[in-house]
Amino acid sequence: MKLKELSSPIPCTFTNIWIILFAFLSTSSGSHFPKNFKFGVSTASYQIEGAWNVSGKGENIWDRMTHEHPNWIEDRTNGDVACDSYHQWKTDIELINNLGVDFYRFSLSWSRLLPTGFSNYVNPDGVRYYNGIINELLKNNIEPIITIYHWDLPQPIQNEGGWPNIVTAEYFADYAKVAFELFGDRVKTWITFNEPIEICQNGYGGGGKAPRIFSSGVSDYLCGRTLLMAHAKVFHLYDRHYRHKQQGKIGVTINTGWFEPKSNDPKDVAAAELSLQMMFGWWTNPIFSKTGDYPLLMKDRIANISRAQHFKRSRLPNFNNEEIKFIQGTSDFLGLNHYSTVLASYAPLPNVIPVSFSNDLNVKTEVDPKWIPSAATWIHDVPWGFRKLLNWIKGEYNNPPVFVTENGYPDVGQFNDMERIHYLQGYLDELLKAILVDDCNVYAYSVWSVLDNMEWNRGYTLKFGLYHVNFTDPKRKRSPKSSVQFYKDFIKSSRKFDSIEMKSMVSN
Ligand SMILES: *[C@@H]1O[C@H](CO)[C@@H](O)[C@H](O)[C@H]1NC(C)=O
Ligand SMILES: *[C@@H]1O[C@H](CO)[C@@H](O)[C@H](O)[C@H]1NC(C)=O
Ligand SMILES: *[C@@H]1O[C@H](CO)[C@@H](O)[C@H](O)[C@H]1NC(C)=O
Repeated sequence: MKLKELSSPIPCTFTNIWIILFAFLSTSSGSHFPKNFKFGVSTASYQIEGAWNVSGKGENIWDRMTHEHPNWIEDRTNGDVACDSYHQWKTDIELINNLGVDFYRFSLSWSRLLPTGFSNYVNPDGVRYYNGIINELLKNNIEPIITIYHWDLPQPIQNEGGWPNIVTAEYFADYAKVAFELFGDRVKTWITFNEPIEICQNGYGGGGKAPRIFSSGVSDYLCGRTLLMAHAKVFHLYDRHYRHKQQGKIGVTINTGWFEPKSNDPKDVAAAELSLQMMFGWWTNPIFSKTGDYPLLMKDRIANISRAQHFKRSRLPNFNNEEIKFIQGTSDFLGLNHYSTVLASYAPLPNVIPVSFSNDLNVKTEVDPKWIPSAATWIHDVPWGFRKLLNWIKGEYNNPPVFVTENGYPDVGQFNDMERIHYLQGYLDELLKAILVDDCNVYAYSVWSVLDNMEWNRGYTLKFGLYHVNFTDPKRKRSPKSSVQFYKDFIKSSRKFDSIEMKSMVSN
């Protein structure tokens, strides 16, 4: 790496010279993250477990949707067996241990613990399963990190309306309480939700994810309101009743790409900012900002468009002052899933505006044809966007502790996954610059994913694993791709350098 590549978006002060020098020296010989920096890998229950109808597990919205509408999944598959991790979890922990990671982030299947979704009956096999995983991880010195909700809502709760129904926040809190009671003695990092916009906008706005309800511009906003309330409820529950005895942390994972203005035209710059505010700020502003509530830009815009559409009130359901305060500050860290960048530009609103989230947003996005593509249309290898996003978060929310809970690259089945290695190397370099040069407060990073798995609507056609899984083999044989060695070496070399020493030199 050349020194000039480290050029900072932040003015080069005298102390920054030292940091730049150290960053240069360190990156030139490998990866030198702060010594207490944590590396890990992530998965989600529906994508890996399988065993959808055994050992007492109930039906969830992904079971229902894939069974009733196989054509909604690219290869007409489902998660009935997936990686069969329900039976092969011990092997999977060996694979994870082989990487030398500090933590493993996985999600609980709500329907495996509470088969009907309600907390009146807890499935003992579900409890046994997750206890086995947690204990085995701890035995191997790997921190278990739990996502409480990663998209697999129990079907009986969907039958009551699912997330757009505010009562779902109560059921979610009941479920979270069961999880804290059962596992909180050993689990010290909790994530309430994974990617709220996917749950709400894709699930209830017509994006194709379960339960695939087409009510964009209405139900997606109702879902969002419930999710933010549910998150805050569970944070307060943990904070009041478990934190003092369990000594853990609780946060939320929110995803976003970086929106780069297509040109310097103020209209394009505004379009990029609007995209960040309406897709990411929708979730982060109520929790992490000084003002709380939805971003003002988003509130104003949806209120104006709703008015033009002759609605009596904004389609974005508001929070009262009490609710704004209830949600504000309810996260010990900002979990960030980031994969890629797009170019954003201004688009004029049409005269008659159909009701939908994308019309409320109304920004044109595209990619630079020079960017390296991937098997997913939405992922290009654009590492500098990661650093810009981390800096935006730092500026917007007063440099909160950030935990990068997902970052990764899909292949189509090759073992020598040089494209993934290129992607990870680039993104990790930009992350390092964000930490050392820009002082972004990032303390952990996780690759998505350990194994190739059931990639939602793409079925098994997109493969995000460091380990290849043979899905035509009834044993679901796992084999390392080249990126296993890369990540292993990367983590190992990052441990050589003590950035505490570096920090003290810098502050002198
Ligand atoms: C479970 O689902 C599979 C299909 O994945 C089916 O073949 C099997 O009969 C089901 N088992 C039970 C006990 O319902
Ligand atoms: C909403 O409408 C008001 C009044 O017409 C206008 O001042 C404001 O700029 C509009 N806001 C947005 C975000 O369009
Ligand atoms: C996957 O497993 C099937 C069945 O065991 C086998 O025929 C095939 O060669 C395997 N594919 C790979 C890439 O190992």
